[in-house]
Amino acid sequence: MSDGDAELEARLAEQEAFEPPEEFVAQANVTDEGIYEEFAENWPDCWEQAAGMLDWFEDYDQVLDDSNPPFYKWFTDGKLNASYECLDRHLDERGDEAAIEWVGEPVEEDNRTFTYDELHREVNEFAAALREMGVGEDDIVTMYMPMVPELTIALLACARIGAPHSVVFAGFSADALATRMNAADSEYLLTCDGYYRRGDPLDHLSKANTGLEGVDHDTQTVVVERLMDGDGFDHDLADDQHSYSEVVAAQAGAEVDPVERDAEDMLFMMYTSGTTGKPKGVKHTTGGYLSWAAWTSHAVLDIKPEDTYFCSADIGWITGHSYIVYGPLALGTTSMMYEGTPDYPDRDRLWEIVEEYEATQLYTAPTAIRAFMKWGAEYPDRHDLSSLRLLGTVGEPINPRAWKWYYKHIGDESCPVVDTWWQTETGGMMVTTLPGIKTMKPGSAGPPLPGVDVQIVDTMGEEVEAGRAGYLTVNKPWPGMLRTLYKNDERFINEYWAEYSDTDSDDPADWVYFPEDGAKIDDDGYITVLGRVDDVINVSGHRLGTMEIESAIVGVEGVAEAAVVGGDHEIKGEAVYAYVILEEGQEPTEEMRGKIVQGVDDAIGPIAKPEQVVFTEELPKTRSGKIMRRLLEQIANGEELGDTTTLRNPEIVAEIQERAQSD
Ligand code: WTA
Repeated sequence: MSDGDAELEARLAEQEAFEPPEEFVAQANVTDEGIYEEFAENWPDCWEQAAGMLDWFEDYDQVLDDSNPPFYKWFTDGKLNASYECLDRHLDERGDEAAIEWVGEPVEEDNRTFTYDELHREVNEFAAALREMGVGEDDIVTMYMPMVPELTIALLACARIGAPHSVVFAGFSADALATRMNAADSEYLLTCDGYYRRGDPLDHLSKANTGLEGVDHDTQTVVVERLMDGDGFDHDLADDQHSYSEVVAAQAGAEVDPVERDAEDMLFMMYTSGTTGKPKGVKHTTGGYLSWAAWTSHAVLDIKPEDTYFCSADIGWITGHSYIVYGPLALGTTSMMYEGTPDYPDRDRLWEIVEEYEATQLYTAPTAIRAFMKWGAEYPDRHDLSSLRLLGTVGEPINPRAWKWYYKHIGDESCPVVDTWWQTETGGMMVTTLPGIKTMKPGSAGPPLPGVDVQIVDTMGEEVEAGRAGYLTVNKPWPGMLRTLYKNDERFINEYWAEYSDTDSDDPADWVYFPEDGAKIDDDGYITVLGRVDDVINVSGHRLGTMEIESAIVGVEGVAEAAVVGGDHEIKGEAVYAYVILEEGQEPTEEMRGKIVQGVDDAIGPIAKPEQVVFTEELPKTRSGKIMRRLLEQIANGEELGDTTTLRNPEIVAEIQERAQSD
């Protein structure tokens, strides 16, 4: 490091607030500070601005119908089609421009560009193929796919025919696929033969087939041929399985009219982890969700049609849905899709892509930024990143050091950084600075977006003072919100509303949405999100339910009981720590440990694998028999232990601690 660098580092370390770069402001989509007041005064009609990002087949009657909270309806009786919004309406002006730039793996292989015309054609053909298979409006189609272009094509093909999709992350296990297909009564699956990870082919279809064995109804599957000649795994397709290339070839040139969907019709659902062992099927609608994705892409990501926008998330998660597919394509821009990992073939892979494609925005996760930081600035320094105009993060809290590193080494101090807080359930961004207007404060996501009403409250629902930790609540509905949990209105109310609402009331003012995050607010109204307050662990920005992991561990033969907590992790943010009691006569061997880790991998997927498995004879429990997770968290973090006097078995804590340390 030169002296100049050291000086700069020292200055950055001190600096707590950063102004939006002038050059950025001069061209930003949203620059009028008055928008905050205007939206507050004009609520809920302010959301016409979001709806106005779209071309509706039929105009809506009412912006918000709040007659039956918390079952809000947005843009009532409006008609539209998401595939039309993302494709057809751009064809005149942008037919020859790239909609998707797909960067595949292995490197130097078959990167593909899809213009809007080409994507439109592929979507039409696959939509026709889905119809041919019998997929009708409102039939749920499951996708279990890595980051290949056919995943985007399939999402839009489903949207075109009004069939909601349910994407299951490809890294999830066969069991997880089966659970989700069963819960959604989904009769159709799109998957692929395999894909590449760090250059090696992976067999994906075998995993999908194992999952299908656990599905309790008849299904039809379409299999995308991703692997190249010679890399295949000699799969024979069963009678109810079709080759993607064949079904699409049979529809060459087909055109499918985009069906008119009601604003409130389901566009997709997405399963996410919650406090109980059963994943929640979050339902999103066509009008409200798409307006939200488009509006926030415009206002926060500053997307313009001529941009080459790069979000490094996976479409298997909500970030990829809203900010690789729906938001960017609704705005007619070029959206990048990257199949691989950031460190293959080398740790400069993302920077190489940014340089080659002249990416204008990068939206990624703090876990990735922490890894980049650890690898060192030499990797981004190898490349010209001057095409970048804006940087974003999502998924977990970002510590100021990582924020500043990103700002300096990736953004060259000339790109605003938006730290965006939101959830699967919110459909899109909720709390973040507007990049062309607001001062940025590293470590704080910022104020709520205009028109979004957030309060930080105590357990009684009273607003807490600035600087004190409380709970984040949302006090008014918003168009992108989930409408319910699939076929489970009661759980929807219990999970998100019951905590702070008067659930007997018909008055929307009595209904408060609780996302289960802790947060604090400063004197300027900037919110720092502290993390989940339920039993959900955020590993590398992925939500995992402790109950799901515990039940996977207890499912391993020889295990009697298990408790799982999240402990701090330098790169992943949080990692899974498991405390396990074995059945009588079982030995706490390495083999047993291996079986437990494998059990979690089988039930959920590799992301949920415990960092550490500690065997114990007992778990610390209160007199009423509740496991004291707080103590286990302190053990996982190597922290000093809190009060143990309320425990039934205080002596066990020191013992567990000793074992954890000696591992
Ligand atoms: C966390 C991802 C702090 C939070 C879009 C939330 C964040 C959960 C941030 C949702 C952020 C997301 N700062 N924490 N900027 N963004 N989170 O459903 O705990 O996968 O509740 O959606 O991630 O995760 P989900």
